[in-house]
Amino acid sequence: MSPSPADAPPAPAAAPDARSADEALAAFALDPRVLHLNHGSFGACPRAVLATQADLRADLEAATMRWFVRDYQPALARARLAAAAFLGADADGLAFVPNATHGVATALANLRLAPGDELLTTDHAYGACRNALERTAALAGARVVVAPLALPLRDPAAPLAAILDRVTARTRLVLVDHVTSPTALVLDVAALARALPAHAALVVDGAHAPGMLELRVDDVGAACYTGNFHKWTCAPKGAGFVWVAAGRRDGFRPLVTSHGAALPLPPGGATTRFRLEHDWTGTHDPTPYLCVPAAVDTVAALGGGWPAVRAANRARARALAAEVAAGLGADLVDQTPAAPAGGASMVALAVTLPAGADHLAIERALLARGIEAPIVRHPGSPWPLVRVSAHLYNRPGDGERLAVALTALGVRGMKVP
Ligand SMILES: Cc1ncc(COP(=O)(O)O)c(C=O)c1O
Repeated sequence: MSPSPADAPPAPAAAPDARSADEALAAFALDPRVLHLNHGSFGACPRAVLATQADLRADLEAATMRWFVRDYQPALARARLAAAAFLGADADGLAFVPNATHGVATALANLRLAPGDELLTTDHAYGACRNALERTAALAGARVVVAPLALPLRDPAAPLAAILDRVTARTRLVLVDHVTSPTALVLDVAALARALPAHAALVVDGAHAPGMLELRVDDVGAACYTGNFHKWTCAPKGAGFVWVAAGRRDGFRPLVTSHGAALPLPPGGATTRFRLEHDWTGTHDPTPYLCVPAAVDTVAALGGGWPAVRAANRARARALAAEVAAGLGADLVDQTPAAPAGGASMVALAVTLPAGADHLAIERALLARGIEAPIVRHPGSPWPLVRVSAHLYNRPGDGERLAVALTALGVRGMKVP
């Protein structure tokens, strides 16, 4: 990883101009005829990073034994060190996994629960991870407890208070999104970690955090932190990680048991069981992991350094949301833009759908018009939401175009009471 672009000072947080966005769009493998306002769901990858991945795959396929037996583990170790530096995480506790869904499942699989134990989460938790929580609880006779993050959110301290209010002597795990998926709220996970009792392990689902927030995983104070590189860091799809706090690594196992479970540990502490188990979980295409350093460098170079990328994306998201709000008369769900860790580069807006309309049908109608933006119905929100994401390639006017299309589909803004 070259240090220079990533270390550049932050740019002022003004919404960037159309020319730089057009240049960025050309650097991504995105279809320029499509209006991309949903970086948050699946990310997007620069062409240069995909070219790196293609080279790696060609090497792998050219001599599989040379690659997997000789080259792979040193390359994985290099990628892990670069990824850890980017995350502000101790590399010894970091393992690549395909995605945050996998990361949360790994954390849950490592719990030792007794009947009556409580697993605490919020009503804004990502649906897939909530399902995993319910499954884990059902297997152990434990109970899922849900803290409501009542909207509209006007007091930045309210989410934490709602979560802490539901901690009991039986709470074994607290699973929270660092950035909530449906509502794009940034939760103060470090403050939560400080406030939780020792018997309640904090697992942070930071699916959106790397590349979006000013993140230092080591400083969060979580028992376990998982996230994605294929969202805001723009790595190829299938690059996630799980990080485990120092005192919890012994016996923290991957979801899949493989050779590392029984390999002898070399003398002298050259590696750990954690490393042996997590760094080989069966044959798969690991090139997304190996491309994380290229993604970190490429996006930094495109956007003038990561601090500038994050600040500009935040400003872009706010500017695009303001355009949608102006076009629809919609209110932003996040009434507290002074969010911890810098705030999100996604914004959710409250809308009303035409009577009887299905939100997914509206989403598909937008797709048919070449517009990618999620229309969200989620138990954590009393209103349907449209969520706009912004990355380097979004240009002024994108939000206006979305508002025009939504208006044509009968979607109206909602004034948050
Ligand atoms: C909070 C949260 N957790 C988990 C995920 C799942 O990410 P992935 O599909 O990469 O596992 C998402 C995806 O948007 C998310 O927002």
